[in-house]
Amino acid sequence: MSECSCPAEDISSRLLAWYRDAGRALPWRNTRDPYCIWLSEIMLQQTTVEAVIPYYERFLANFSSVAALAAAPLDSVLDLWAGLGYYSRARNLHKAARMVVEDFCGEFPADLAELQRLPGIGRSTAGAIRSIAFDLPGPILDGNVRRVLCRLHAVTTDPRASATEKQLWQRAESLTSVSRPHDYAQAIMDLGATLCTPRQPRCPLCPLRAHCQAFAQSLQGDIPVRHKKPPVPKRAQVVLLLEDQRGARLVRKRPYDGMLGGLWEFPAAPVEAGETTTAVISRLLATLGVCSAPEPVGVVKHVYSHFALTCTVFRCRVSLLPQVAKEEDRQWVPPTELAALALHGAHQKVLKLVTEKTEKDKM
Ligand code: ADE
Repeated sequence: MSECSCPAEDISSRLLAWYRDAGRALPWRNTRDPYCIWLSEIMLQQTTVEAVIPYYERFLANFSSVAALAAAPLDSVLDLWAGLGYYSRARNLHKAARMVVEDFCGEFPADLAELQRLPGIGRSTAGAIRSIAFDLPGPILDGNVRRVLCRLHAVTTDPRASATEKQLWQRAESLTSVSRPHDYAQAIMDLGATLCTPRQPRCPLCPLRAHCQAFAQSLQGDIPVRHKKPPVPKRAQVVLLLEDQRGARLVRKRPYDGMLGGLWEFPAAPVEAGETTTAVISRLLATLGVCSAPEPVGVVKHVYSHFALTCTVFRCRVSLLPQVAKEEDRQWVPPTELAALALHGAHQKVLKLVTEKTEKDKM
């Protein structure tokens, strides 16, 4: 194919032709319903397509419209989100659903500025919703698109630096197809996800190879430039699995206004600098009003965006139910019901560890 005098148009048409043949069949591509598109875009923030699909389907089976979501209690939204991570997305989703119902008569706006007024919708997500749901031009600059654009234009500066980011937004805007925004948005995201991948991009298959300045200079492996992230701080906690005679376990709900708000967890306490695990266990048992010999179970690690957590897990069998469970935010939950509880990710790992250990001990 000869070089076109207008590269933006040629890039767009090559991309669209490629997408027609190679685009992925994904559940949110069978609809133009702004509610479904919005839900998929929020779930896809920082999360892979494979992880999102079952959550997306389950969520829609429970809340089939923005009105149904707005009318639901936050707890049932968090239940359906449990395990997907970045829980502020679920809280924002719920808040935004209520705003759509109250401020926009239940109809999602198509305007970029209005979309960005809804909690959880930033500039790129607004562009994606506008393009995919309404087929109106809206530039996108998510992780996949950023990588494609950096390679296409051989951007050798840090893509997160504000000057580069500004330049990338301009590139994104000038490439966005005005005639087929719906297809273009999905095409450029798919290109980044399937061919222009972070490692070992599949350049021989790429429809944009002829325009790609990184490819021309054999720089595709070095772009986007990766800046070493400072190491994440480490934190530790002791987790106690209190088990009554029926095998029920004590859990508590985290306060709604903090990190992982509204999700459940096992009783836990941070290990402060210089503190021993034994001291933390005693402190925690005393707060719970429990007297029991803790058995070590093992260690679980979980990485959040801003710190890495190590949980040291102990099991305590209790014969008398401590009074603490009478408090509203604490409950004894039978083993069969624990799996359905919205435990946060680190404590889901704790539960898995304890379940595996219990099975092993039985053998
Ligand atoms: N990542 C973000 N939005 C997406 C979409 N609509 N399809 C595939 N991957 C995506």
